[in-house]
Amino acid sequence: MAPVYGAEVSLAQRAMQHPLLAPVYQHVWRPAWWLGANAFDLPHLLREKAKAVEALRLGPGDLVLDVACGPGNFTTAYAAAVAPAGLALGIDLSRPMLRQAARDHDAPGTAYVEGSALRLPFGDDAFDGVACYGALYLIPDPFVALDEIVRVVRPGGRVAIMTTTAPDVVRGLAGQVARLSGLRVFGPAEVTGRLEAAGFTEVSREIHGFFQYVAATAPGEV
Ligand SMILES: C[S@@+](CC[C@H](N)C(=O)[O-])C[C@H]1O[C@@H](n2cnc3c(N)ncnc32)[C@H](O)[C@@H]1O
Repeated sequence: MAPVYGAEVSLAQRAMQHPLLAPVYQHVWRPAWWLGANAFDLPHLLREKAKAVEALRLGPGDLVLDVACGPGNFTTAYAAAVAPAGLALGIDLSRPMLRQAARDHDAPGTAYVEGSALRLPFGDDAFDGVACYGALYLIPDPFVALDEIVRVVRPGGRVAIMTTTAPDVVRGLAGQVARLSGLRVFGPAEVTGRLEAAGFTEVSREIHGFFQYVAATAPGEV
């Protein structure tokens, strides 16, 4: 069984555990870092949550998992899309982040649980949709987490993932710089290729600066 942190703990993961970070993350850190990493594509960023909901194809009554939900900044958008009878469940390793989520993003239809993306405490095929935004690049074993996402989404369900990317030519240098802070820059086909290898269809990939937005449909009978 995979340990909760994986083989190692990245510097970025450690930072996310700091109680002072959670309050500033969603209002300062995320907007600033996302704007730069998205190549200042403000129109895209303003629609980021709506696009995540669209990518997941959520509807009333759905059960959706927000992996590495942080302060719940996307979880409530998912909850609104699955209302009135659905549930958006956020899971994160960081207790300060979860406290912030419970304080700031406790809309009806949301719930939060402490746990690791590397060992999701749910059965196979449990969710209609699984999102993982802004986290795979700071998890030292990202493909263990991706395989867990693949495991818990139901046949015909959707996954939506936002993580880093760069063309191979710039990845060497960007990767070295990112690695110093514990971040990973994914190659063009690493995430989509893993999903395709698992039998996912309708695999799409939208690139904005150093970020990629991947969506796909899980294999199997609906
Ligand atoms: C940059 S925040 C992203 C929050 C939110 N999803 C967003 O897009 O703004 C990354 C989150 O990943 C969480 N995280 C890191 N490693 C994790 C793991 N192995 N399992 C669950 N959460 C993890 C951190 O605690 C942090 O809250």
